[in-house]
Amino acid sequence: MKTFAVHLPGQDRSYDIILDQGSRQRLDDYLARVLPNRRIWLVSDTRVARLYGHEMLAHLQKQGFEANLLTVARGERSKSWPVALRLFQHLLAQGADRGSALVALGGGVVGDLTGFVAALFMRGIPVVQVPTTLLAMVDASIGGKTAINIPAGKNLVGAFHQPRLVLIDPEVLVTLPRRERRQGLAEVVKMGFIRDAELLALLAGPGQRLGQDRKLQPGALLLEIIGRAAGGKAAIVAADEREGDRRRLLNFGHTLGHALEKASRFRLQHGEAVAVGMAAALDLSVALSGLPAAAAAEGKKLLQTLGLPIQAPLLPQEEILQALLVDKKKQGRRLVFVLLRRLGEAVVHPDVPAAMVAAWLEKNRQR
Ligand SMILES: NC(=O)c1ccc[n+]([C@@H]2O[C@H](COP(=O)([O-])OP(=O)(O)OC[C@H]3O[C@@H](n4cnc5c(N)ncnc54)[C@H](O)[C@@H]3O)[C@@H](O)[C@H]2O)c1
Ligand SMILES: [Zn+2]
Repeated sequence: MKTFAVHLPGQDRSYDIILDQGSRQRLDDYLARVLPNRRIWLVSDTRVARLYGHEMLAHLQKQGFEANLLTVARGERSKSWPVALRLFQHLLAQGADRGSALVALGGGVVGDLTGFVAALFMRGIPVVQVPTTLLAMVDASIGGKTAINIPAGKNLVGAFHQPRLVLIDPEVLVTLPRRERRQGLAEVVKMGFIRDAELLALLAGPGQRLGQDRKLQPGALLLEIIGRAAGGKAAIVAADEREGDRRRLLNFGHTLGHALEKASRFRLQHGEAVAVGMAAALDLSVALSGLPAAAAAEGKKLLQTLGLPIQAPLLPQEEILQALLVDKKKQGRRLVFVLLRRLGEAVVHPDVPAAMVAAWLEKNRQR
């Protein structure tokens, strides 16, 4: 078991991230420690509910919790206002009040949606995050950002609402499809690139299996890798709760990644797009921030070893550049990229010429 404390200023806002194999069977103990009472609503998507939710609900009820389960459809479309509204209505109809709490059991979609509903319901009730995808374990569940999508764009409406606890049970990853696992690995490698060279070494060595094995083996290695990545995110968000310079380092690979995701009309998954974005950022780092060429090559090889793409998909170049220039991370007309000085150390580069990115795309396209 590993515990990280996220210390935030202000009363009652600090929380723990606990990594504990098999902890889904001890959820009652963990909840009792951080929640004011035993009235809780689990929120899950249909697949996670089927795999884990119903069982956890029955367990909580047996342990004397007044527990309920609300499910939403799988996928990004559930992060929407109509679904949030439906949850508010169900909560009210089922008697939830100011003293109730929500438990987000699922991937980043469920985590963001449940956090959002918890932030607004009765002006804010506690939420506990129990992430079930690798991406949610190392990224989405940590940091207190919650959001829904509106027709104008993703994550445009949301709130900061810190969880009371993030409880990670790595065992649930055995049922996660490998493509989803690799998406999470992209964010894990990212954490290595920006702040943890040892994590990179681990991934290049025994950790390769996490990207390759068809069936995941839970155990010490998985725990160590999740711990390093989740601990890294926790350290960054504790130091810099809102979008400051430190937190911006988390956007490594995301400037181009977001543009590719959008230009591909989300055919490319987030982690895949970010992997291509990281490959580009590694090459740009050689030209602009002093990263040795051998280190860039090593970084790209690691991405490939983990089963992640390093070449841009075949998309009209203008569409990618268009998406890049309207990315909300751009400042003025310059492109802001997070680049590396060396593997494990990142800097924000505020002034990357769009022409350099265009040239990279031209040279690194799937053919
Ligand atoms: N708040 C943040 O800081 C933050 C950070 C990064 C991403 N996000 C958000 O996270 C979302 C993406 O999250 P995601 O990648 O976890 O997607 P997701 O929540 O849609 O989960 C992916 C799929 O995996 C399934 N699944 C989840 N756990 C499983 C398990 N243990 N076994 C089998 N199947 C399982 C789900 O049913 C779903 O179909 C996006 O909406 C993104 O905006 C938020
Ligand atoms: Zn990301």
